[in-house]
Amino acid sequence: MLELAVWGAWAEFAVRWVHVITAIAWIGASFYFIALDLGLRKSADLPKGAYGEEWQVHGGGFYHIQKYLVAPNRLPEHLIWHKWQSYATWLSGFALLALVYYVGAEFYLIDAEKMDLAVWQAIAISIASLAIGWVIYDGLCKSRFGEDNTRLMVFLFVLLVIMSWGYTQVFTGRAALLHLGAFTATIMSGNVFMVIIPNQKIVVADLRAGRTPDAKYGRIAKQRSTHNNYLTLPVIFLMLSNHYPLAFASEYNWLIAGLVFLMGVTIRHFFNSLHMGHGYKWWTWGATIALFIAIILLSTVGKPARDDEDLASLPPSVARFAQDPQFEDIYWSVVGHCSMCHAEQPNWPGLHWAPKGIKLETEAQVARAALPIYLQSGASHAMPPGSTVLMDDQSRKEIADWYRRVTGS
Ligand code: HEC
Repeated sequence: MLELAVWGAWAEFAVRWVHVITAIAWIGASFYFIALDLGLRKSADLPKGAYGEEWQVHGGGFYHIQKYLVAPNRLPEHLIWHKWQSYATWLSGFALLALVYYVGAEFYLIDAEKMDLAVWQAIAISIASLAIGWVIYDGLCKSRFGEDNTRLMVFLFVLLVIMSWGYTQVFTGRAALLHLGAFTATIMSGNVFMVIIPNQKIVVADLRAGRTPDAKYGRIAKQRSTHNNYLTLPVIFLMLSNHYPLAFASEYNWLIAGLVFLMGVTIRHFFNSLHMGHGYKWWTWGATIALFIAIILLSTVGKPARDDEDLASLPPSVARFAQDPQFEDIYWSVVGHCSMCHAEQPNWPGLHWAPKGIKLETEAQVARAALPIYLQSGASHAMPPGSTVLMDDQSRKEIADWYRRVTGS
């Protein structure tokens, strides 16, 4: 019989697979169109209403692309829309967020040292923050304040840093950085779903009906897609950050996340300038490297987070793992098999911090980590890694039995 934890693990893998694929498709298309747009050339024989054109060679053929700023005289029957890459990325991303951080909330999302939330509260904060983020952002863009693009961008950066700080006050560092990525990515998908595509549809409908579309729609879409352009790279950094405890589990993680947004700007600026034909702006790489070094330094200062959650204050969904009659044995088994590496100060040559930020030293930590412990060393042989520490089948079985007994699976 396949139990829930196994289904869950495979569902997570499947959804992650989809998410990476759709994100590649979205970002790939978006990079392609940005470069195409910036590289358009004028020529004498452009058709009426065309703004510029470009020749490309790829995959054994030549492509001749012409851009119409508003629309061609006659709208073609067959129009290709680029929107599902973005929607599918958001949908699969949200599903992955739910599978990892909502299903595994006790371990990955909630940090009782920061805020002792019940699972439903943590999930509510997570969802509300993503929705409210969009509402604030969209309101700002539409307001008078948003008419000045530079002013708007600076304010958005400040907003992102505030959110970054806010998330780290509520969630685990790992969840905080990931949420900042999801917050930003929700804005990006929202731009496509709520603004760019609907406006484009109005324009197409106007043209089909023989009306002249208002030029403001193009202007609005341009503003939003410029934001998306600069937000893409930081989002990818934040989505990958959960592999690097130095990024997410250090004291200044919120500041690190803030600086990442500036690196997004400096790197994009290099390529945008290049594609516009303004040459190689090498200083942007100097700025990027300086920012990266600042991030590295920041990750090493400050004090590591304390972890002394009390067993008595665990929420019921976690406490049940500690109340199991065999828990003492399980706890000492984990200490014996795992804690030399998974500790604040690992006692293993070459390890300088807890791998993936996962600490298994206190009883509360072990109870919170029941599911990952089960998946890594009960249901599979992933941990301890290789042949570093021997763990016999009996010990693995005890862990598996413990998890299954408590969850009734
Ligand atoms: C010799 C050191 C070492 C020991 C012993 C060890 N681990 Fe790990 N553990 C690691 C390393 C290194 C990683 C990070 C692997 C990676 O980067 O993919 C890790 C990662 C993990 C993860 C996170 C997996 C993920 O991809 O999110 C969990 C959970 C985990 N270990 C649990 C355990 C448990 C439970 C035990 C004891 C039964 C254990 N580990 C013993 C070194 C160790």
